[in-house]
Amino acid sequence: MIKRRISTSILAADFSKLEQELRRVSASDLLHLDVMDGIFVPNISFGIPVIEAVSSVSQLPLDIHLMIREPSRFIGDFARFKPEFITVHYESVTHLQRVLRQIKDLGIKTGLALNPHTPLEGLRYVLDDLDLVLLMTVNPGYGGQKFIPAMVQKIKECSRILEGRPIELQVDGGISIDNVAALAQAGANNFVAGSAIFQAAEPNLYIEEMRSVKSAS
Ligand code: DX5
Ligand code: ZN
Repeated sequence: MIKRRISTSILAADFSKLEQELRRVSASDLLHLDVMDGIFVPNISFGIPVIEAVSSVSQLPLDIHLMIREPSRFIGDFARFKPEFITVHYESVTHLQRVLRQIKDLGIKTGLALNPHTPLEGLRYVLDDLDLVLLMTVNPGYGGQKFIPAMVQKIKECSRILEGRPIELQVDGGISIDNVAALAQAGANNFVAGSAIFQAAEPNLYIEEMRSVKSAS
């Protein structure tokens, strides 16, 4: 069984005091960095300089979620930070397997993200090149959105496809202590959360709770 990990999305942090904010979430297993280009998603977030700042003040492994068109153009730029994962969207690339190889060849683990409506089918042909599947549980573009309930069934189906392989199943969007147990039960083992963590009175404690809450059975 793959160990449960919490990947904190800094999108919900107060960027005017980023170093302090990162200390409030130092119990995270990973730092999730949402890069948005205003084209693939209807919002622009941050890019290289912010990631540079984050990596200079935090030792946590980085989990870079690229919500940008044709991310192959920038893989080299993000690889510089030696993140644990670079995740690209199924819907944003023309030659998926080539991009995954590009990431792997730089010694970085690969992630593949699927929008809520994207069928799981295409996954089957790139499993050998994957370390993580990210199932979006909201439409990407913004933090603070509501979890889409139909995604529970998709998580179950995806976890069947991944069975027996060392591939993490990450969920992202509307995740909190209230749904982590049910989603773990459905098969997710890597949880991205932004608003829920940063809005908690004690984010580091909240992260510990998310990591340890028992799956419903
Ligand atoms: C949404 C991003 C998420 C976002 C999650 O497009 O991919 O990572 O930060 O935010 P919350 O946890 O607030 O739903
Ligand atoms: Zn994300």
